[in-house]
Amino acid sequence: MVSIAILGFGIVGSGVAGVLTRNREQIDTAAGEAVRLKYIVDVRDFPDSPFAPVIIRDFSVVERDPDVRVVVETIGGCGVALEFTRRAILAGKHVVTSNKALVAAHGQELLELAKLHNVNYFFEASVGGGIPVLRPLKFDLAGNRITGIRGILNGTTNYILTAMREEKLSLEEALRSAQARGYAEANPTDDLNGMDAARKLAILSDLAWGREVRAEEIGREGIEKVSLKDVECAAMLGGKLKLVCEAKLLPDGGLTAFVAPQVVMPGSMLYGVDEAYNAVLITGDAVGDVMFYGTGAGSEPTASAVLGDVIDAVRHRDRRRAINWSGTPAVLSDPMGLGGRWFVRRRDIAAIEEQCPAVPKGEDAACYRVLEK
Ligand SMILES: NC(=O)c1ccc[n+]([C@@H]2O[C@H](COP(=O)([O-])OP(=O)(O)OC[C@H]3O[C@@H](n4cnc5c(N)ncnc54)[C@H](OP(=O)(O)O)[C@@H]3O)[C@@H](O)[C@H]2O)c1
Repeated sequence: MVSIAILGFGIVGSGVAGVLTRNREQIDTAAGEAVRLKYIVDVRDFPDSPFAPVIIRDFSVVERDPDVRVVVETIGGCGVALEFTRRAILAGKHVVTSNKALVAAHGQELLELAKLHNVNYFFEASVGGGIPVLRPLKFDLAGNRITGIRGILNGTTNYILTAMREEKLSLEEALRSAQARGYAEANPTDDLNGMDAARKLAILSDLAWGREVRAEEIGREGIEKVSLKDVECAAMLGGKLKLVCEAKLLPDGGLTAFVAPQVVMPGSMLYGVDEAYNAVLITGDAVGDVMFYGTGAGSEPTASAVLGDVIDAVRHRDRRRAINWSGTPAVLSDPMGLGGRWFVRRRDIAAIEEQCPAVPKGEDAACYRVLEK
């Protein structure tokens, strides 16, 4: 029997506890032995929860317990989550996380530490929630030279842009609707400004090319300035405005990566990705295009990815799964060099001819790339 501990009993942590309990037999079979939840660490008490008997406040109990072989970190952020992750690895425990901020900022360091202590650090749930994409990229597509990654990696902004188009809502109204449905955080800044998507693109790029891509260095434009008029004009062109992430291997071996709203045309595989869904399109020299599509967030979908990692960690608990992520920093080229068609909306048409494609943004100006394929 293997004991596990969950750190953080929030949306994802409670989903992990629930699915682990509900699907116990199946998970035990997949893991090859019984997987039992021994502790949940949180800063609050949950007296009414069925998991109350295993909820504790002191992480050092987990750290010192040799029965605990796998620690699930679902606290989020780079504060205490980083400290607990380091301590768990130092104590010889495998760590599984859904925390994209931590993986994007400290993934390489934590993988190195895990290597040193012969344990695994797995983070499938940090990109695309329930969609299995990192493991296929790391293992199943490992025989390919990856030439491009394109995706819709933030369900909140995808929902907002869908609601603006279909219900003719302003950005503010669509954001309120996303919050009412539990898609957007109380503070949705990192969703709206594209940072959340940039972190996921950085993780995908790190794994695809084995070079350290910093989320902060990815060219980024969020949806804060998108107006209903922009969405309607994109629809008049036959397209849908979506927040798209792209990373490409350039012919000279360099990389470029950016996150920006684009007008996605029907010829693109991303055209049908609406509502809060996510999709990742990976292009390999041998396989061509493969797309991963599904629910990019939420309690149980994210728990599904976490539990896949837990099972993998139990099955590989005496050996490490090597992950291609070096500390060599990637130098990103300017994505403007990629060219392509642009959609420009401005009252003063003459100014477009002078300034296109770099039309300055203002209340009456908008400029988006058009994604044909
Ligand atoms: N929600 C999703 O759909 C989703 C999807 C994919 C990935 N993720 C990622 O998964 C992580 C967790 O997200 P979440 O939505 O589950 O967050 P959440 O609901 O805020 O859960 C985090 C939990 O950790 C607790 N916590 C805070 N400090 C702690 C400490 N020192 N020790 C133990 N517990 C502590 C929090 O307590 P308080 O509430 O009292 O602060 C809360 O119960 C984040 O990195 C997020 O980006 C989330």
